[in-house]
Amino acid sequence: MDLQLDRQVGIVFGGASGIGLAIVQQMLAEGMRVVVSDLSNDGVAVANGLSPSGDCRGHVADITDEQDVRSVVQQTIDAWDGLQHVVVAAGTGSGKFGFPFWNLKPADWRRVLDVNILGSAIVADAVQGPLRENAPGTLLLFASVAGQIGSQTDPPYSAAKAAVINFAQCAAKDLAPYDVRVNAIAPGMVQTPLNRAVWKSWHDQTPEEERVDYDAWAAEKIDKIAPLARWQTAEDVANAAVFLMSPRAKNITGQTVNVDGGQVMHS
Ligand SMILES: NC(=O)c1ccc[n+]([C@@H]2O[C@H](COP(=O)([O-])OP(=O)(O)OC[C@H]3O[C@@H](n4cnc5c(N)ncnc54)[C@H](O)[C@@H]3O)[C@@H](O)[C@H]2O)c1
Repeated sequence: MDLQLDRQVGIVFGGASGIGLAIVQQMLAEGMRVVVSDLSNDGVAVANGLSPSGDCRGHVADITDEQDVRSVVQQTIDAWDGLQHVVVAAGTGSGKFGFPFWNLKPADWRRVLDVNILGSAIVADAVQGPLRENAPGTLLLFASVAGQIGSQTDPPYSAAKAAVINFAQCAAKDLAPYDVRVNAIAPGMVQTPLNRAVWKSWHDQTPEEERVDYDAWAAEKIDKIAPLARWQTAEDVANAAVFLMSPRAKNITGQTVNVDGGQVMHS
């Protein structure tokens, strides 16, 4: 299927690892020009490795820092004279096991809310002007099934992802008159450093005799919660991401698309 994204310009914040990286690769495969932005030089290294020819560039930015984000947006426009698609794949958990919620202290919430929801708002604020000027375009945010089911694993993460779903709806309504579509993706279980960190935080606070390794923990969880009973892959998520960017999805906005093996079903 031709997704008609050839030569379009995109930025993936949090593009150096996991799902974000798979999205960058799919965007390049569709012939797009892509900026990979991440916390460290990893994004630059990824960009150099993926496209020595120059269709992929890397810039360092913390999405909680407005100046960083604005600078990446400006450098993208300066380089390629446009911007049609922006993805916020950057995300983080608290790194602690949050069941019951009082296992976490209020101070554990701040960075999780800052990155997942405030970071999404900071990026949206910085890109809304360029996306409107270069319309049609898309903004894609990252939620999680955790934000739909009140997951007890990491309450600030669940709460932040619920907020992302709501903000995607607000932004979709505000940007619809300009033909800029805003959607969110809610992955379920994808093997990435972030997913492994969830297991690690559970593992470290569980009595030694009850601990199991990452594979066994994940297998039991997936079997229990996902009707399709299998891992989702970063590529599965990236397929949905590029489809949502494309004109094939021109009437899809304000949605949270679950790529979760059927864990959450919308009515
Ligand atoms: N992996 C899963 O099972 C899963 C499930 C549900 C939702 N998600 C969501 O999908 C998105 C991608 O997650 P992933 O699993 O690929 O994680 P990952 O840890 O592999 O990648 C996240 C990337 O975001 C970057 N990042 C973190 N904080 C940042 C910040 N402040 N500024 C810029 N970059 C930052 C990291 O450096 C990393 O490169 C996240 O929003 C995550 O919450 C993942």
